[in-house]
Amino acid sequence: MKLAVLFGGSSNEHEVSVISACSIIKNLDKNKYDITPIYLDKKDDFYFWRKDINEIEPMEIGVLPTSLEKIEEPFLTLKNYDCVFLMIHGKNGEDGILASILEFLHIPYVGNKPAPSIITMDKIYTKDILECNHIKTSKYQSFMKYNDTYMYDGKSCSFDEVLKQILEKLSFPMFVKPANSGSSIGVGKANDLKELEKAIQEALRVDERILIEEMIVGRELECAILERGGKVEASLVGEVLASDDFYSFDAKYKNSESKTVIPANIDEEDSREIRDIAKKAFQILNLHGYSRIDFFLTSDHQVILNEINTIPGFTEISMYPKLWEATGVSYSNLLDSLIVENIKK
Ligand SMILES: Nc1ncnc2c1ncn2[C@@H]1O[C@H](COP(=O)(O)OP(=O)(O)O)[C@@H](O)[C@H]1O
Ligand SMILES: [Mg+2]
Repeated sequence: MKLAVLFGGSSNEHEVSVISACSIIKNLDKNKYDITPIYLDKKDDFYFWRKDINEIEPMEIGVLPTSLEKIEEPFLTLKNYDCVFLMIHGKNGEDGILASILEFLHIPYVGNKPAPSIITMDKIYTKDILECNHIKTSKYQSFMKYNDTYMYDGKSCSFDEVLKQILEKLSFPMFVKPANSGSSIGVGKANDLKELEKAIQEALRVDERILIEEMIVGRELECAILERGGKVEASLVGEVLASDDFYSFDAKYKNSESKTVIPANIDEEDSREIRDIAKKAFQILNLHGYSRIDFFLTSDHQVILNEINTIPGFTEISMYPKLWEATGVSYSNLLDSLIVENIKK
């Protein structure tokens, strides 16, 4: 099978995508797949990565590929492959944009379908849909900057009015997030009004749609979903022990003190509930193939869904492949399942 692995791209998770793709290429069975790594630079220009695929290893975060050859007609080129493996986190990749182009051109790919990807990438749409379907998430408010005004609760209003409403509805500490981002970029914690205003300004640099949540005091748990044999399966549950105040970008990728514990040391009943909710959320959002679903678990055993990642990190220290390994599916077999059983056409 001629397989193109697409990675990099214009999102703020470019560097993470590079390591995810290197890990995938390292773990793909070279006897089964004729692999071509295709790198998208930060302007989304396409390049062949002319490196011996047998020598590709995950690099340190921030190291980018060299020996590149520009592809002048990327989509004509992609038509030459049996399948494209999308490994681009965030904007233009995980959000379904690239998947829509591939669908239109009838190029088979591994990744979620466009519409569910666009919706799931947006933390506000996702929470609204989960809430309608009785899946518990943190208490939240949202607003957006629309031209020179702000839209809140169906009305156009001033920034001060938005702040006033948020303060009435939510208590500190709060988390402020751009609706569309990832890897904790633009995510801020606010303990008071001054920090809230600052966090909102930071988040507005990333997206005009802003989500504000009440802080959950609880453990951070993650569950991996994979569709196999037409069935939605959930992995064991893993725990993240962030080295920082919260699981920030640096805590995720730069601080070796951050740890993952697989399987998480939690009650059997909590684990079952997390896996059930993960599968339900996956189906509610009409996802297919794979996703990682992240939760909080409070000391009084409340399971609260935090977010869904449709192209989760795939580095060798990432939760998604590690959770499956612990559940009995090796990294290579996991990739086979994704490619053989979950190609979208
Ligand atoms: N409501 C919340 N309560 C407590 N911690 C939170 C909350 N929301 C986010 N966090 C912390 O911020 C991190 C990043 O937020 P998240 O929504 O997962 O964004 P991203 O998509 O960037 O990973 C989480 O892993 C967690 O540590
Ligand atoms: Mg997260």
